[in-house]
Amino acid sequence: MFRRVHQRLAGFDSDIVVQDVEPAPPAVTIAILPASRSPIGVESSWVLIMPSARRVRLWSGLVLFAYVTTHLANHSLGLVSLDAMEAGRVYFLALWRNPLLSLLLYGSLVTHVVLAFWALYQRRTLRMPLWEAAQLALGLAIPPLLVTHIVGTRIAWQVYGVEDAYSRVALSLWALAPDLGSRQVLIVGLAWVHAMIGLHSIVKLRAWYPRAAPWLLGLVVLVPVLAILGFVNGGRQAAALARDPAVRAQMLWHGRAPLTPAEAATLVRVREGGFVGYTTLLGAVLVARGVRSVLQRRRGLIRVAYPNGRRVIVPVGLSVLEVSRYARIPHASVCGGRGRCSTCRVRIQTARPQPPPDETESRVLRRLGMPHDVRLACQLRPTSDLGVTPLLPATATAADGRPPGDSHSGREQDVVVVFADLRRFTRLAEHRLPYDVVFFLNRYFEAVGGAIQRSGGVANQYTGDGVMALFGLDVGPEEGCRQALTAAAEMVRSVATLSESLAADLPEPLRIGIGIHTGPAVVGRMGYGAAVYLTAVGDTVHVASRLEALTKDYDCELVVSEMVARRAGVSTEGLPRHELTLRNRAEPLSMLVVRSAVALAPSEPSRAGGEASRTS
Ligand code: HEM
Ligand code: FES
Repeated sequence: MFRRVHQRLAGFDSDIVVQDVEPAPPAVTIAILPASRSPIGVESSWVLIMPSARRVRLWSGLVLFAYVTTHLANHSLGLVSLDAMEAGRVYFLALWRNPLLSLLLYGSLVTHVVLAFWALYQRRTLRMPLWEAAQLALGLAIPPLLVTHIVGTRIAWQVYGVEDAYSRVALSLWALAPDLGSRQVLIVGLAWVHAMIGLHSIVKLRAWYPRAAPWLLGLVVLVPVLAILGFVNGGRQAAALARDPAVRAQMLWHGRAPLTPAEAATLVRVREGGFVGYTTLLGAVLVARGVRSVLQRRRGLIRVAYPNGRRVIVPVGLSVLEVSRYARIPHASVCGGRGRCSTCRVRIQTARPQPPPDETESRVLRRLGMPHDVRLACQLRPTSDLGVTPLLPATATAADGRPPGDSHSGREQDVVVVFADLRRFTRLAEHRLPYDVVFFLNRYFEAVGGAIQRSGGVANQYTGDGVMALFGLDVGPEEGCRQALTAAAEMVRSVATLSESLAADLPEPLRIGIGIHTGPAVVGRMGYGAAVYLTAVGDTVHVASRLEALTKDYDCELVVSEMVARRAGVSTEGLPRHELTLRNRAEPLSMLVVRSAVALAPSEPSRAGGEASRTS
């Protein structure tokens, strides 16, 4: 059953023809290759300049931000008096009209605008979350609104020596041309919101952000509000002073003769030229998008397969994130596709080499210790068919983008360790093609990894048919135990669902055994080269593994140490208790044998977080 979506909008999205296919039987989706080394692929030059373009846009944005903030701070002195504004302006000018900073400022403005056009051109679809659209639209709206102000102040000063002191500008904008004054207030609002969206998309990724957020919010509101109030107060003072015609002439021209009609006409031409030039460039970018769309469709279509058999057919050139957005498949993208947050990450299965990660993407993936088959969806622009499995839920937050256990490198701490193992896997794998075994195992890992991730854990090792996961790294052992017990019930449920969907191909229903223990362990990122993963070592890990092995002897789904149940605060009434004698331990370990893992799951589901990663 096919549902075809074909969208054409002048210039926008016209480069995309999406054929969206309803869930198809998994067996016919795409070839799943063994998770191998990163496929070596073609590198195109524009991909190489992308990260540096993004960085330059950020730095130029920060220079503009510094300018706007100091400018607004200067305005807010109007709350004291017009003289205070003028006094503050002396320092402001010493800073920004010094040739070096002037060059930096105007260079940044031009660079930022050019890179804004580049960003607009780069986006293959304009389907995006509201905050991204707002940033783009506000950014693009600023220059045509700002051009009058720049021409009336800096350019009039630079070319004709018109002193753009507060007395002149405040008088003009408040009393003589209040419509321009209102427009100026609007620009301040737009530029500020635009800058704040950009900065927020960066700082929200920092671990300190949640604590600092209330203070930052105060600043974000205070700076423009005080600036506008300063302007209002300064403007009123200027208007009062200007009642005397002599003072008024001095305020406007500072001893200089008023502009001649020819000079004024020149400034108007400059303003109109700026406006026309800008809109022409913007139009050219939109036309270029249209031309590219035609050319790109000729390069052919590729198929992107999602879990559950969903497939999207698009022209080459879109990033995986853009494919998801276009096909309205929910996909996490906390930083807005700028390669910073990693929440868009996907595991890929590809039969042909894809473009390798650039430096930015590699750095992010290395920092997180991701295996080679994991890529950032916002950075990967596939050149051939591939399958993708998003690793984080679409609701992922900035916290989910931070490396798991970031602050736990090489530390001993109380953790919760879970081992899960598929029963009688050898029998299941017998007489099957390697392709089938890999396919089956990937579905199984998806089921258990998803359950672990949804419950807040980190699945850090997939070996054969077994999974090891850590809980409580960031939330402490009590919450970790609750999450682990929730995950155990979820895993059993997910495996049962998988078993039903594959029933025709299975000699017997799938069953898993799970062992959980909690205690101190050394947690850190370990490994070599690209294969560095967050893991835990120590007695707690061995015991959890032993408990999992005991599920075979007791023929049950779950064996947990009593400490796990106690820390989770769940009732253990009626559950059989056994004792396990361990080497290196004088006291035997008390454990609970649980026939059905659902019986011990805490009633409140734990918060999602963490992630299902995979070692290969
Ligand atoms: C008025 C002062 C401005 C400030 C303080 C500012 C600040 C910023 C910041 C901090 C970012 C985020 C950069 C990043 O995440 O990499 C950004 C992005 C952006 N800015 Fe500005 N900006 C200003 C003016 C402008 C102007 C005049 C334009 C329009 C041409 C513009 C268009 C953009 C665009 C399109 C983006 C990126 C949106 C995307 O990623 O698609 N900005 N800006
Ligand atoms: S969306 Fe943030 S890295 Fe891809």
